[in-house]
Amino acid sequence: MSIKSTAINNRRYLGNKYKLLPFITKTVNENCDSIDIFADLFAGTGAVSSAFPEKIIITNDILYSNYICNLAWFSPQQFDSLKIKNIIDFYNNLHVSENNYMSENFADTFFSAADCSKIGYIRNDIEQKFVEKNINEREKALLITSLLYAMDRIANTCGHYDAFRQGVTFDKKLELYYPNASNANNAQNRCFNQDINSIAKQIEADLVYLDPPYNSRQYCDAYHLLENVARWKQPEVKGIARKMNRQNLKSDYCTKFAPKTFEELISSLRCKYILLSYNNMSNKGNNRSNAKITDDEILRILGRKGSVQIFSEEYKTFTTGKSDIKGNKERLFLCVCK
Ligand SMILES: C[S@@+](CC[C@H](N)C(=O)[O-])C[C@H]1O[C@@H](n2cnc3c(N)ncnc32)[C@H](O)[C@@H]1O
Repeated sequence: MSIKSTAINNRRYLGNKYKLLPFITKTVNENCDSIDIFADLFAGTGAVSSAFPEKIIITNDILYSNYICNLAWFSPQQFDSLKIKNIIDFYNNLHVSENNYMSENFADTFFSAADCSKIGYIRNDIEQKFVEKNINEREKALLITSLLYAMDRIANTCGHYDAFRQGVTFDKKLELYYPNASNANNAQNRCFNQDINSIAKQIEADLVYLDPPYNSRQYCDAYHLLENVARWKQPEVKGIARKMNRQNLKSDYCTKFAPKTFEELISSLRCKYILLSYNNMSNKGNNRSNAKITDDEILRILGRKGSVQIFSEEYKTFTTGKSDIKGNKERLFLCVCK
């Protein structure tokens, strides 16, 4: 059996903070005392939580696909690594050509027809293994995570699923890697899949890290296909990009309601420190890149909660080519709550 393994950061994700981890950990270590519970409430890939393995970790994300990955990496539930490796090895050696939801809806779009058939087969099989109690919840999350990371590695996209390139030859084949997760996670770690403004009222933490979307780009649009495969409700899909209905997954943080929603969030948080990532794209790029919350609004809202300091670092940002922004600064706003 020869299986490659994968780490948490081996996926493409808009706004992921993997490269900023040294900056984030330094800011926390030098400015925050007695942090036992670290809550990462717009967790995305979970990369930031992974930098605080000695803390009790709480993750949350509105996308189920991120929740499932966070569960795979951070859940305290035990899993059988040999069982997972054997199943992954079996999947990698499969030759399937059946018709299923994936092949019928996505053949030769983001993936070849053959890989779509295989993705559909694997996802059905994971569900069946879970229903038949051959795998537990963590093992199911690990297998779905392995599949989502494998899809991400070969997808015919530029990192997100708004569009695919027409007429390409699909030269990369689907290969699942073993997610190198730990069986020694803190027993009190918890993962959630809710809107942040509702989870905020239910938890307490020492430090809450907030990394909201900055602009009008909805994550459920960019990652609809991973979300679809993770949920596996097999909904109707529409349009060239074959998107499902995403009405319940839209975030207010990508709309004009962002400042008000952010204000409600901050007032409901129960914690000693709030650490906020928000970049300085405000009115510098094209319309879609413009930040939804201004610096003045951030300072006013955080200022009512406690005393605020700003830390910054130069950072190269993702742009679609429509805007060319140099010298972009990634900032951390640290609020020491009253
Ligand atoms: C900038 S990304 C976070 C990236 C993350 N820090 C990382 O390193 O991967 C913002 C995340 O917030 C999530 N999100 C957006 N609106 C949300 C909401 N209202 N409640 C919970 N999560 C939300 C998105 O799905 C996305 O994963």
